[in-house]
Amino acid sequence: MVKIKTKYKVMDDNTKLTGLVKEKKGRYLNFHIEEKNLYLIQGDALEKDLFKKEFSDLIITSPPYNVDIKYNSHKDDLTYDEYLEFSEKWIYNCFKWSKPQGRFALNCPLDKNKGGQQSVGADLTTIAKKVGWKYHSTIIWNEGNISRRTAWGSWLSASAPFVIAPVELIIVFYKEQWKKTSGTRKSDISRDEFIEWTNAVWSFNGESKKRIGHPAPFPRELPYRLIKLFSYVGDVIFDPFAGSGTTLIEAVNNNRIGVGLEIDPHYCEIAKKRIINETSLFAPKLDLTEKNYA
Ligand SMILES: C[S@@+](CC[C@H](N)C(=O)[O-])C[C@H]1O[C@@H](n2cnc3c(N)ncnc32)[C@H](O)[C@@H]1O
Repeated sequence: MVKIKTKYKVMDDNTKLTGLVKEKKGRYLNFHIEEKNLYLIQGDALEKDLFKKEFSDLIITSPPYNVDIKYNSHKDDLTYDEYLEFSEKWIYNCFKWSKPQGRFALNCPLDKNKGGQQSVGADLTTIAKKVGWKYHSTIIWNEGNISRRTAWGSWLSASAPFVIAPVELIIVFYKEQWKKTSGTRKSDISRDEFIEWTNAVWSFNGESKKRIGHPAPFPRELPYRLIKLFSYVGDVIFDPFAGSGTTLIEAVNNNRIGVGLEIDPHYCEIAKKRIINETSLFAPKLDLTEKNYA
């Protein structure tokens, strides 16, 4: 099932991912997809020497939220301190793997309400700044989840009510310089999209876990908007927690280069199937040479 390849790929003149992947104790990493514009690698975002050099123009990711989701290969019920340690490791790695003008869009909760109140968004922002990221702005994603609320705290009493915002955050950071001067400089966002999406309150629905077969997918609209707003055509889009491959699908469909890491082999397979079904990456190419046309 898992292909182990022994050769690196050269992307094109501008984007060489040659030498991207480190040799691990005499063997190479597991690629589930290794195409010129898409790499899906089964690997651990905590492993700091996984990639040899800076390669990412835009990171779009939703890490585990530590809310006891039943992932196959990840324990999602750490203590809050352990969760912050975990977060610092991967956020630092992402910093190392980003190009100087690299950007980082972090989808995470605003607050944690179960098992003690925590300011997750604020704490992850502090960690990102500590490891070197510069803060740019925060987008509020209104998921439109009118969930059946059961946790009211003290019902109709001021003794200890719960206050819950049914939104998530997309916190945007950059490595050294916000203004992009490298890459193709080709943007593909429309006037209406630009006006709508630079208003940092976004409203669209979440994705169905059942439909995707993954416990916590985000909808394609989320990476779609971030890719068009924050990257140029041809940029490298990286998701260190690729899950069912949503970011990679949008990277391919919008003429960027996708690089995804996912620790779990089953989720890698789900991502691969989605990429086959939801992009034209593996579609047979029409050969219109004279010989085949006659
Ligand atoms: C919130 S989900 C991401 C979902 C993804 N955005 C999507 O649309 O499908 C987090 C993913 O991170 C993966 N994961 C957890 N720990 C990891 C690690 N150390 N390295 C790489 N992936 C990890 C989990 O298996 C899970 O698929």
